[in-house]
Amino acid sequence: MKILGIETSCDDTCAAIIKASGGIRRPKFKVLSNVVSSQVKVHQKYGGVVPTLAAREHAKNIKPVVKKAFQGTGYRVQDIDLIAVTTHPGLLPALLVGVHAARTIAWWLHKPILGINHLEAHLVANLLGDKKKQNTPNQSLRSGTGQARNKIQTLFPAVGLIVSGGHTQLVLMRDFGKMKIIGETRDDAAGEAFDKVAKMLGLPFPGGPPVAALAAKKQDTRSKIQISLPRPMIDSNDFDFSFSGLKTAVLYLLRDNPQIPKTDVAASFQQAVVDVLTAKTIRAAKKYKAKTVMLGGGVAANQELRRQLRSALTKLEPIPYTLYPIPSLALDNAAMIAATAYLHWLKGERNTWQQIKVRI
Ligand code: KG4
Ligand code: ZN
Repeated sequence: MKILGIETSCDDTCAAIIKASGGIRRPKFKVLSNVVSSQVKVHQKYGGVVPTLAAREHAKNIKPVVKKAFQGTGYRVQDIDLIAVTTHPGLLPALLVGVHAARTIAWWLHKPILGINHLEAHLVANLLGDKKKQNTPNQSLRSGTGQARNKIQTLFPAVGLIVSGGHTQLVLMRDFGKMKIIGETRDDAAGEAFDKVAKMLGLPFPGGPPVAALAAKKQDTRSKIQISLPRPMIDSNDFDFSFSGLKTAVLYLLRDNPQIPKTDVAASFQQAVVDVLTAKTIRAAKKYKAKTVMLGGGVAANQELRRQLRSALTKLEPIPYTLYPIPSLALDNAAMIAATAYLHWLKGERNTWQQIKVRI
């Protein structure tokens, strides 16, 4: 099955073509193209994504991005068997552009279309490999910590940690498509906190990568982190998060200690975020006896989070699989949207363009 994925929930205009085969127990995916057109330059000066500007850029980019996704694949839009588009969650004006484009193609070519939950797709990204390789869940599981398993059902129950610029959620997955939110941030998302702290440190947007790079310099020196920042809600009896207090603590720290090395601040902040995310994820994995822990979203690209979470998970008995998306697929992309649509298609979901709407 050849699937066209479209994603415009935030500030990247994305289109991808994947080839999917196999049944629900052993789905196979091949990413034929994965085009991401970033709007970073447009939003950079605001230190965050401006929804109306994002929509304007998506409207400008969507046609060339979809066109580009077909280049080199040997397929034309007529050859597509299914269209997949993000319908929720996301910025309303931004989502509307992708949904409108996808509906138009489905209407024009009389093709089936499925609306996809962006957050579920971030977890499905774990089943995808890079462009050249055909990937089965089995192959991606080999890179996990446990023994390889053959069937997709053995992934579940799974606990997913979705950490992006707009979301921080812990979800319980009984199956793909059966996702329950068990905890989420009460204020800022983890990625948003990275972005705001980066701004305070004079670093560019998006802030995750430069803050992580600065923090790594501190770790390189192997000197201990002296600053103590709060770990909000780390001991609360739920799976919720809060990052706005941590962000404010960094603000006051910088105001009261203008000479403080930026590397120390970056490393302390990152460690506080990693501690909270790790503690809650481990607690959820224990409570729900998770066979797999999956990470998704832009912050999932953070190497310290990956390293420390994996290390903490190895202390559980039995050790759950840990699945991380390959770095290029941790960030927003349309290949994950297309792959999620395939799993839903296999379960019998069918829609026409009239049924697809943005869900807010
Ligand atoms: O999933 P994503 O691409 O878009 C949203 O749906 O938000 O995530 C973007 C977020 C940004 O806040 C960015 O700063 C953060 O992911 N991010 C990181 C890293 N790479 C991206 N945060 C921490 N460490 C990273 N290496
Ligand atoms: Zn995302």
